[in-house]
Amino acid sequence: MNSIEQLVSQAQADFLNAADAAALENAKAKYLGRVGQITELMKGLGKLVPDERKTQGAVINAAKTRIEKELNARRNALTDALMQERLNAEAIDVSLPGRGRGMGGMHPIMRSWERVEEIFRSIGFDIADGPEIETDWTNFTALNSPENHPARSMQDTFYIDGNDTEGKPLLLRTHTSPMQVRYARMHAPPIKVIAPGRTYRVDSDATHSPMFHQIEGLWIAENISFADLKGVYLNFVKAFFETDDLRVRFRPSYFPFTEPSAEIDIAFGSGPLKGRWLEVSGSGQVHPTVVRNMGLDPEKFIGFAFGSGLERLTMLRYGINDLRLFYEGDLRFLKQFN
Ligand code: PHE
Repeated sequence: MNSIEQLVSQAQADFLNAADAAALENAKAKYLGRVGQITELMKGLGKLVPDERKTQGAVINAAKTRIEKELNARRNALTDALMQERLNAEAIDVSLPGRGRGMGGMHPIMRSWERVEEIFRSIGFDIADGPEIETDWTNFTALNSPENHPARSMQDTFYIDGNDTEGKPLLLRTHTSPMQVRYARMHAPPIKVIAPGRTYRVDSDATHSPMFHQIEGLWIAENISFADLKGVYLNFVKAFFETDDLRVRFRPSYFPFTEPSAEIDIAFGSGPLKGRWLEVSGSGQVHPTVVRNMGLDPEKFIGFAFGSGLERLTMLRYGINDLRLFYEGDLRFLKQFN
């Protein structure tokens, strides 16, 4: 083997021995660098006579090409090895079970909503959905709220851009009752309906939020009295709270759309709230003016209405003391109901 052949196989051996890219570059310098052996041989060509220079030059060039090929092969091998090492380190065990996505659950307010619907459906009430954007007439006037009623002031009502057909500004339903007249005008008596939904007021603290969920109830027929209201509501709260051990109290109150009017309070016979009267609903006998606005003869038709907050009922059922928890979306809170 001549010395050029030796040089090539020496280079090959050096390259193979280089354990990483840095070592390989050092090995390369030994042959192809500025003072590398191939470079030196090239420099030596100048001293030869033209003929010899030509043949010897071709031999050196061929050797140089082979060394470069070996170098590239080793470079690629090192890169592949590095990649393989990384792949091994980051290996995914495809046989492991998936982590899965958390299953959503029902919000406690929605649980109450469905529960209330179920209870009232079981005693023959229809369920109606009313608009959250209301007109002045259905929210106030039809319900016997005089033009100068304080509830119409900007502090209590969210008005929105846009007017109704009478040119009055549209508003977000400020209380639970606007569906009364809407529904009654679309159905013949007996009228027996609950209207769940959302209600909006300019109000915000631990027990009030600018939006709350409502259940409005309405029963109009030829002979529906306050006694029926008592029976229906007592039946409802007993079913809702799953206990017979509670009392219901009707406390005189005022609403423009009912006469007489009452707040409904309940008191549990046991548990942490034992004996405390808690307000859960407004109620009353539907005012004759409202019955007339329903398109019915108040001499013939009579009945009751009530409007309860779903938040309040839910707080009492689960012992929740801050209303704001319902709207924060904190999973630590929400998970407890699923
Ligand atoms: N609409 C009243 C409110 O939102 C509640 C109510 C409903 C009172 C029906 C009497 C009769 O506060």
